[in-house]
Amino acid sequence: MGEIKRIFIVGAGTMGHGIAQTAAAAGFETTMMDVDEDALSRGMAAIEKSVRKLHQKEKLTQEEMEAALQIRTVTSLDAAEDSQFVIEAAPERLKLKLDIFENLDEKTPPKAILASNTSSISLTRLAAVTERPHQVIGMHFMNPVPLMRLVEVIRGLDTSDETAETVFNVAERMGKEPVEVVDSPGFIANRVLCPMINEAIFALQEGVGSREAIDTVMKLGMNHPMGPLALADLIGLDVVLSIMNVLQEDLGEDKYRPAYLLQKMVAAGHLGRKTGRGFYKYS
Ligand code: CAA
Repeated sequence: MGEIKRIFIVGAGTMGHGIAQTAAAAGFETTMMDVDEDALSRGMAAIEKSVRKLHQKEKLTQEEMEAALQIRTVTSLDAAEDSQFVIEAAPERLKLKLDIFENLDEKTPPKAILASNTSSISLTRLAAVTERPHQVIGMHFMNPVPLMRLVEVIRGLDTSDETAETVFNVAERMGKEPVEVVDSPGFIANRVLCPMINEAIFALQEGVGSREAIDTVMKLGMNHPMGPLALADLIGLDVVLSIMNVLQEDLGEDKYRPAYLLQKMVAAGHLGRKTGRGFYKYS
């Protein structure tokens, strides 16, 4: 595998456009794909807002900002035919991701690396639907991607050393700090973070404190940049619920049971910032 110059991103949602922005600003020729043209337009608008802000704060040069505005947008996976490196950031649904990996395996050159930004689905499972499991790997970015330094690099059962080394190199060129993690439910970030958020929701549900009290305790008492309920709104309550479900099912322990209030909020469509209402309201 030669030097990676081009990155193809599947999905223009919160994570997809953040990854595309970061890749393009770092000098990779970047393509962002989404089946929904409106999602692509919203993604590009969010990128423009973000890079202008970062440029104003002198965190991005003029050249980096312009590079991020040059992202190619496409609506079909057919455009991945000359890809070297794909990062899938589609919604967190197993069947959808399995279909995308099967498709990418057919459409991309055999040498291409297929990475997934999944927050909880097993990489080994995604790799198994391809003919190249040694080139399938997790590349789990944190939200908001342009500001957060961590990338969890998750090795599936058959991921090769060469693939892992290439992904470490790409993550570092994107200005991130990669950390190697074994494929296991929730990896490290969500295994530790989501039970903490879930417990905060149990505390709210049981009336231990108001949402402000719970968030203030964690912000001022533990120096967290934001409280767990505000963070749940940022991540998306549907994402938090799906991660808790994976932890409970795959680790088989009651301590991962999602709070009933979390289930109700998701059922009502109050998913956090992206729908304008979660534990807090957003205009
Ligand atoms: N691009 C550019 N600028 C951005 C931005 C983006 N995407 N997002 C926020 N900013 C800017 C804000 O506009 C703001 O700018 P001004 O100061 O000029 O107003 C600045 O960053 C600081 O933001 P805030 O004042 O709103 O708040 P803050 O100082 O708390 O910083 C934060 C924001 C970086 C998000 C910080 O609160 C933080 O680190 N929060 C925790 C985030 C976290 O834990 N992320 C991981 C989630 S888990 C995950 O992603 C994995 C998973 O699978 C679920």
